[in-house]
Order: sequence, then structure tokens, then C-alpha cells
Amino acid sequence: TQALRLGIAGLGTVGASVVRMVARRAEAISATAGRPVLVTAVAARDRARDRGLDLQGVTWFDDPVALARSADVDCVVELIGGAEGPARQTVEAALASGKHVVTANKALLARHGPALARAAEAAGAALAFEASAAGGIPVVKTLREALAGNRISRVYGILNGTCNYILSRMELEGLTFEACLKDAQALGYAEADPTFDVEGFDTAHKLAILTSLAFGTELDAEGVSVEGISAITPLDLRMADELGYRIKLLGVAEATEGGIEQRVHPTMVPKSSAIAQVMGVTNAVTIDTDALRELTLIGPGAGGEATASAVVADIADVAAGRTPPAFGRPVAALTAPVRAEMQQH
Ligand code: NDP
Ligand code: HSE
Repeated sequence: TQALRLGIAGLGTVGASVVRMVARRAEAISATAGRPVLVTAVAARDRARDRGLDLQGVTWFDDPVALARSADVDCVVELIGGAEGPARQTVEAALASGKHVVTANKALLARHGPALARAAEAAGAALAFEASAAGGIPVVKTLREALAGNRISRVYGILNGTCNYILSRMELEGLTFEACLKDAQALGYAEADPTFDVEGFDTAHKLAILTSLAFGTELDAEGVSVEGISAITPLDLRMADELGYRIKLLGVAEATEGGIEQRVHPTMVPKSSAIAQVMGVTNAVTIDTDALRELTLIGPGAGGEATASAVVADIADVAAGRTPPAFGRPVAALTAPVRAEMQQH
């Protein structure tokens, strides 16, 4: 059988981990995928930087769009980041060339997801994005495939590792917001512009993706009301503690009488609750459904290895041809009926 040839665009925290994981787990990935998977091309800005990667026999591109168009690549793995610029151009060029795309880029999907999903469907290509929400937690697959028989009424949780890491260390170690953010950046958890993390936008991007999958609605990141954690002080955390609470940045999407409500805000949660026990870079997603009542997934929400785990799962699915339409069902067909149905309640 022919190998699936990967072009990895971006060799930072996540990209470098993906290259290592594909090499380290080659046999197991090939068994899961039913055929070999190999990296044939990579792209990043700084060719001279030592990334600790064995890139022998791999073609280097300075321009990720050229990688996306390369005849030696079947599947482009976009790990550059950002809603516009090189990330968007790379994904669009890949789909226009009929190549499959795997991405961890929630900012891109939040802004252009529906258009990219349509482009992928038109090209007969996969657009896979497990790593775009909640890092290593397989929540996209869970919502899209494992819960097909469930009617979902609410999805909520801790969706940003950086914020949870900051709040946890501020509370437990009495460190300053700035010191914790610096550590989160050094550990590779934060976005290139950490404002996206601490102001809640990254959580909003992820929530919008999960909402679309959970409720079959058109992805709508603009419709999320957002408040981040930058105004939370050590005093706030101490006061909450004295009252028996912890402060968590939650993303919440729920079916209400007026339709699907999406919001992101710091929330006081009782210290005895399960979600209050989720500390550090860990994420948690709770899904309320008619059949399961409550399902909670907990796991690492950021970092190279955790995110690579989700990216590699997508790569295996692409190689195996297990690639449902990007947002589960044809986006346009389900949006109206679901919204109308919700409004009847
Ligand atoms: P990094 O900033 O660590 O890496 C970005 C990579 O993109 C770098 O290798 C950089 O090259 C390359 N790059 C940037 N601009 C260009 C360009 N114009 N041409 C070619 N290459 C370019 O980001 P992360 O690995 O942290 O994140 C990647 C994506 O994954 C983002 O969408 C992010 O939101 C998402 N994500 C990240 C997680 C994490 O924990 N870090 C978790 C889940 C998702 P160079 O190295 O030469 O500078
Ligand atoms: N910056 C993000 C976070 C990366 O901290 O959760 C994972 O999406």
C-alpha cells in the first residue's frame, strides 16, 4: 500500500512534537491507519535553528504555501497558527490542490471554518482538527462520532490550559499573574499572542467549534460573549477560597429558549465540585445529553506532546480514509432546522 505523505507546515512546539511522534510511533500509526505514514516535507521560517529533529531525506520549504502545493505531499499538517496570513494561505492552497488538511488552528477555524469546510467538501479532501479544542482530549471525535445518538443540551468546561495553569499557580503558590504567564509561555502552552489566552478569545474559538459539532449549528465565534482572566487578582482568589470556591475560566454553550447561548467568563465553582479539582494545564469538557446525562473528559489541554497526540490521531484517520465532513454533517442543511427546533422550547 502507498504511504500517506505528510507536509508539516510549522515546526514550533506542536510541529516539532508531531514530527517526533510520527517517527517514534511509525509502526503503531501505520497499523491504526492501515498504511504507512511518513513526513516528506516541512516548512518553518528559520532553517538554521536546531530543533533536535532528524530531517534527513525530508524536503525543507521556507514558504509553507509551496509545501502545500508540492506534488510530494498528500496531507498538509498546518501548525503555524493565526487566523490569517501564512496559516490561512497554506490551508487554502492545500485544499485548492485537493490535498487533505490536518490543523490545530482554532483561530483560523473560528473565523474561516465554514468556508474551509465547504472548500474541503468541494475538493473531496479531509479537514481534520481534533487538536484545535482542548489539546489532547479527543472531544471532536467524541462529539461528532461517539455521541451521534445523543441529544446534547449543554457543553461546558475549562478549554484553555494557559489560563487554568495561571489561576492554579496564583492560588496554590501565591505567584503573580505575570510570573505564571511567563512560565506558561516558556512551557509552550500560550498562543504566540497570549492576549488570546488571557482575554478568553482562545476559549471562545474552541467553544465555537464545539458548539457547532454539538448542536449542528453554523460555527459562530462572533456570537460568543467573552470575558477573560486578566482582571483576576490574588485577592479575588483568596476571597473565593474563603467562601469555599475556586475561580475557573469556563466556556459554556447551552440550548436555551432563545437558541444556543455561547459564553466565556471566570466562574466561581464550589471547591467540592469535580471541575474545581482540574488544576494546571489540564482541561475538562462536560457534555450533558439525554441518553448519558453527563459525560466529562479530562486531560492535558496544551503542550507539544499532548497536542501532537490529537494531531497524529487525525493523521491516522486521514490515512485510513476515516474522515467525516469537517463539521459532522453538511453544515448548511442542519443549521436552520436545529435553530428552529431549539426555539420551540
Ligand atoms: P509556535 O509558535 O511554537 O510554532 C509556529 C511555527 O510556525 C514555527 O515553527 C514557525 O517557524 C512557523 N511559522 C510561523 N510563520 C511562518 C511563516 N510565515 N512561514 C513558515 N513558517 C512559519 O506555535 P505552536 O506550535 O505553539 O502552535 C501551532 C498551532 O497549534 C497554533 O495554531 C496553535 O494555536 C495551535 N495549538 C497549540 C497548542 C500548544 O500547546 N502550543 C495546543 C493546541 C493548539 P520558526 O520556528 O522558524 O519560527
Ligand atoms: N494556548 C492554548 C491553551 C493552547 O493554553 O490552551 C492549546 O489550545
